[in-house]
This record gives sequence, C-alpha cells and structure tokens, in this order.
Amino acid sequence: MKNYCLFIVLIFIMLVSCANPSFQEDEITLIPKPLHFQLNEQSFRVKSSTSISVSDESQTKAVSYLNMLLEQAAGFALDVSEEAQSGGILFEMSADLSGEAYQLEVTPRQIRIKASGESGFFYAVQTLRQLLPAQIESKTKANVDWLVPCVSIEDEPRFSWRGMHMDFSRHFFTLDEVKTFLDYMTLYKLNTYHMHLTDDQGWRIEIKKYPLLTEKGAWRIPNNQDTICMERAKENDLFQIAEKNFRQVDGERLYGGFFTQEEIREIVDYADERCITVVPEIDMPGHFKAAIDNYPFLSCKDQAGWATVFSTPCCLGKETTYEFMENVLAEVVELFPGPYIHIGGDEVNIQSWIDCPKCQGEIKKHGLKDEHELQSHFNRRIEKFLQAKGKQLMGWDEIVRGGLSEGATMMWWRNWAPQAPYIAADNGNDMVMTPDFQYYFDFTNEATPLQKVYDYKPVPEDFSPQQTEHILGVQANLWSEWIPNFKRLQYQTFPRIMALAETGWTSEEAKDFDDFFKRVEKHYPRMDVMDIHYYIPSVEGLEKKIVFVDSALVDLTLSFPLEGVEIFYTLDGSLPTRQSLRYTQPLVVKKPMVIKARAYRGEVFNDLKTTEIEQQSYREASAMVPDNKGLKRWFVKGKLNNVEEIKVPVTRNWQKTETIELGDFAKQKDFYLVYEGLFEASRDGVYEFELRSDGGSLMFLGDELLVDNGGYHGPRKRYAKVALKKGWHPFTIRYLPSSNPRVITAWVTNPGEEAQFLDGSVCGF
Ligand code: ACM
Ligand code: ZN
Repeated sequence: MKNYCLFIVLIFIMLVSCANPSFQEDEITLIPKPLHFQLNEQSFRVKSSTSISVSDESQTKAVSYLNMLLEQAAGFALDVSEEAQSGGILFEMSADLSGEAYQLEVTPRQIRIKASGESGFFYAVQTLRQLLPAQIESKTKANVDWLVPCVSIEDEPRFSWRGMHMDFSRHFFTLDEVKTFLDYMTLYKLNTYHMHLTDDQGWRIEIKKYPLLTEKGAWRIPNNQDTICMERAKENDLFQIAEKNFRQVDGERLYGGFFTQEEIREIVDYADERCITVVPEIDMPGHFKAAIDNYPFLSCKDQAGWATVFSTPCCLGKETTYEFMENVLAEVVELFPGPYIHIGGDEVNIQSWIDCPKCQGEIKKHGLKDEHELQSHFNRRIEKFLQAKGKQLMGWDEIVRGGLSEGATMMWWRNWAPQAPYIAADNGNDMVMTPDFQYYFDFTNEATPLQKVYDYKPVPEDFSPQQTEHILGVQANLWSEWIPNFKRLQYQTFPRIMALAETGWTSEEAKDFDDFFKRVEKHYPRMDVMDIHYYIPSVEGLEKKIVFVDSALVDLTLSFPLEGVEIFYTLDGSLPTRQSLRYTQPLVVKKPMVIKARAYRGEVFNDLKTTEIEQQSYREASAMVPDNKGLKRWFVKGKLNNVEEIKVPVTRNWQKTETIELGDFAKQKDFYLVYEGLFEASRDGVYEFELRSDGGSLMFLGDELLVDNGGYHGPRKRYAKVALKKGWHPFTIRYLPSSNPRVITAWVTNPGEEAQFLDGSVCGF
C-alpha cells in the first residue's frame, strides 16, 4: 500500500512537471485590449508537428499569415488539413459572429478559433501573435519555446474604420517601406490605409494619360522642407533624407519618387492579404501644384504658384479642369477596389477664384452663393463621376462648407471647426475622426504625448445615437514634411499607434490609460525584435538656458519612466552617444559651458536636448526706491514698422496701471504701448522674465535689452534669465502690436518659484 501511494504521488509529480507552464495576468499584453478575456491555467505549445485544420476559404488569409510568421521566426510552417481534428489549431465557422468578431479558446491540447469571415479569423491570428513570445516577430529563426497561454477570448471592434495615413508627397516612402508599415498596422488590428498620393510637393502615382505628372511632377529640386531636414540631420540621424529617393537628372540632384500602377496593385494586394483596405487620396482642387506645374492650363491664370499660405488651386470655371480630374480618377478607381476615393478638398486659396472671371462666370451660371459653394459644386460633379464608377467620395472637413453632397464621407481634422461633425451627421453624412490636436502623429511626442492620443474620445459628448451612427471610426495621420525617412516615421508612429488602435477597437468603458501603459511597456521588447526606432521618454531639465553666479545644479529627468532608458550627455559641445558620460545624478557646474543630452534605450535614441549654461555676475540694485505700487503705462497712437522703432521721450503722458495686458486696446489699430516700473527682487538670485505678445515686444532692464521678442509675428513667447541683487531694478517694456492685436503679457519667475505675472504685486514706480 505504501509503495502504491508513492507510485501515485510520483505519477502526479510527473504529470504536473510535464504540464505546460502557466502565465500570470501581467504577462498578457494584448493591444488593443479584447472585449472579454479570461486567463486559464497552463499553455499550448506550438511545435513543428502541430497541425492546422481549416474548414472554409475565409480562413486562408489568417492561416497564411500565421504560417508566414512561424516559418520566419520558428523555422517551420504548420501542416494545413481540411480534415476535422481534435488537437492542434482549429479554424471553425461560426455564422452568428459579426464580420470582424472572433473567439479564441486556447487549452493545452488545442487552439480553437471561431469567426464568420476572413477579418475575424485574421484578427484571431493577430491576437495569437501577441500571445506568442516577442520573437515571433523575428525575421530569422529564434530558439524559444513557442508557448501560448491558455485563454478564453471573445472579441470584436468598436469601430469599423481604424485607419493610418501616410503622406508620400512631402517625403516619399518606398514599396518595401509601405509593406513594412502595413505589417505594423496588421499587428494592431488596423484595417484602413490612407495614402496621400498627390500634393504641391510631388505627384506620386503614375497616371498613364498624363505622363508628366510623374516624369516631372514626382521630382523636385530639394525644397525648404528638405533644407530644414538637412539642417536638423546635423545633430540627428533621424532627419537624414533617404538617399534612395534622390536621382541625378542633367547634372541636377532631384528628390522624389512615385509608384507605378503595377506597384500600386502590389500594395493593394499586400494590404488585402492583411484585411486592410487602401484609400487613395488625390487632393483637389487645391494642393495641386505638382500637377499645375506641368499642366498649367489647370489654373485660373495658366500658371502654377503660391498665394500667401496655400498654392493657387485649379480653375473651377474651366471645363478642362473637370475633364482632367475625371481622367485621373478614371485610372485611380481601377487600381483601388475599396469603396472610398479621397479627394482632399482642404486648404484651398479661394482668392484665386474671386479674382478669376471664369470662376465667377461658373458661380453666376449655376446660381451659387460664393466660392465655397463653387467648391461644393465641383465636389458634386466629382462625386457623380465617382458614383458612376461605384465609388464613394471622401474629403477633409472643408467639404462641409458650401454644402455637403449627399453621399460624401467627411474626415474631420480641424479641432478649430468643431461644428463640422454636427453638420455632417445632421446631413446624414458619415465621418472619420482624425483630429489635428490628437491624431496628427507628425507632431512631436512632446506636443502630442501618448496619453493625449489615448484619451481622445471620438464621439462628441452630446452626440445622439443617430448622430453617433455616422462616426465610422478613427484615423491617425503622418504628414511627412518633417519625416524624411522610414526610421523617423517609426519614431513618430510608435508607440502612439497603439493608443489609436485601442481607441478604435476597445469599448470606451474598458479603456484605462494606466492599464494600457503597462501593456505598452511590454511591447518595447517586441518593437526591438521588429527593428523599430520607437519614441522613448525625452530628457527634461534643459528646456531653458541655465544661468548661475557661483554654481549651477543641472538636474536631468526623463519625461516618464521606462525600463532600460539611460541618459548620456556631453559638456564640450559634441553630440552625445552611448559612449559619452552616463547621467547618474545632478551635476554641479561651476563654469560656463554647453550641455547636450539625449536618452537611449539600447541603440534607440530620441531627439537631442541642448542648453547653454551661462555664468553672470549680479546686477546691482538701483538706488531708486518707488513711492507707489504698480506700473506706469504710456499709450501712443501712431504707425511704426517694428517695435525697435519705438522711442521713449523724457516727458510723456503716463497712466498708472496694475497689470500688463491688452484689455480694451485689442479694439484699437495703429498704436503702441510702453510700460515702465521698478521690479522688486526679493533676494539675490537668478530671475527669469518672459514676454508673450503678437507683433513685437522688447523688455529692457535699465538701458540694456533683456528679453527680445521683437520682429513681427503672431502670438509667441520669449524669455531671458538674469542674476539680480536684492532690491529694486528699473525696466521698460515696449510693445508694437500686429495688425490684429492679440496679446501682451509679462511674467517673472523668482528663484525656485513658479512663474507669476509681472504686475503691481511685484512692481512699483
Ligand atoms: C490637412 O491636414 N490639411 C488635412
Ligand atoms: Zn478660375
């Protein structure tokens, strides 16, 4: 009996030790988060002998993708059989699930996937991919145990449009780069790829009827965007303009590139294998300079050019414009099987139409109210053409102005046009939310951080259920003015694409940033295997110049904590690398120098931070002591060209004031303001003064210019730091507003304190 018991115990121990290992909840890092998820004991081991059983053609894309991943990373593909099996990976039809929904049940013996169509099966495989070790992303054979935790998942997306956009005009990306990007989208269950193929800076799609569009329109002499990128590249490799996009023509180095129609078909097929629909954008009637350059009859004055901000658009009073557009679109619709053709419609310089007799003739002929209605009239004609080809028109939210055509779908991007979604929904038009402030991934990660992307709510709070039905989903955009290569594109995309994906897929109630960020952190090793140059926290503490008298404490921090991130810096003006000094604690600096720092995670680095550390001696306080609290203000009517021209006479008509602000002066034209007072330094120390103004403004300490916010500009701020002895310090501030007076304020930051208004509380006269 004793031996028998021992035998049972031994068998039990053997069974337990043979069982596949179990996983902890925090090891599961699915993005986007599934609708229903349960983690169970043990795991399934994928081996070369594991078989796949299929039952329907709709499973083909999913199975091919899974086998492609395994073949690369594990060195084997799984046998696929149409016979029902009881073990291995089983794909089963489940007609009651909606199109993109799936169920995934992993037990130690089998993986059962249920869906009703190809997207559902495909997304189940993407979930499986994220449940497998990160090495599943490897393009070469990795020696790992291919364990899938036992889970039970029921999942489906919140929105049907989960999109990413890329701009090929400002800087071009190659076919291989497009494919790699489509694979990124695949991992996060995104399903719509918007290609911005034409714009002022280059035409990127072959149109056989108009060969000059790509023969010439796809190539440019490097422009100001290129020059700025080249300048930035001096200290940041991520701004190097991709060399492969240059070519030599008649001794001239030209930037550009385009896709042949054959390549476009290849992109569309590659996307389709990943359940991604491609939406082409041919931006019209503005943003069309690359075409007008080569077919000048398209414009009102038969020549391409720039108005104040935007390029001169096509003439909408000439029949040849409509013909041209239709001929272009006739070729485009044949290449893209998806339902939508995006015609842009944004940022048109309507002044060209105001000045054009032909455009004005068109307005009269059709009884249109204004140039916005002229654009709507154009859109309606284009829409009719597209509808006849079985396509739906899509455009940026400017298409709302002047009246929306019936079947048009709007892309809302202008946070400053908040009414557009209401107008579209009430008119019965569908829309995709791609707001500039949250979903423009070309903005820096500092300006649009991960949480800002994550927290965006695509449905306006007061939208009714009927209005909400018109929101197809969300999309983020990657305008490429400052994205001159694919590494920079990765840096702008990751990890923000994950926040977009979760908003597009996961229900609003299930979203939680802290929980999300824990999963994002675990995706960094996966991004490493994918060779992605993602964004990492930036170095903080060098945003402003550092000024000291005896010594300065330089305290560097990271904008958020992330495992494996280190700061390297230099004090000799050279660019920091991983071989530079590693930052471990605050530095005490006793002489002037330049400090440059950047964060690294392995070889991945972020943008350089630089500041000057300046030594000053204290400025002595004035012998003057004020009799009154507050400031003196001098208001002058008169026209000057710039703030530097303001002269302050010895005798003038002062008024007392407590604050530096525009107030009612905002309604005035042609004037300037001068403020004067004594600032009280409450102790010896380094003080910071800041001017915020439009137009131009200057702050003098005594006779010396301290803050230079001069020139002529829109609202902006400039600051300066100065070491002051305790006591009273005389200053003047001169302000010449722009033609649209917006703001004048001044701020002071006392040593170690928060910024406060420079006003009567700290000034006297
Ligand atoms: C846009 O950003 N002009 C749509
Ligand atoms: Zn015209």
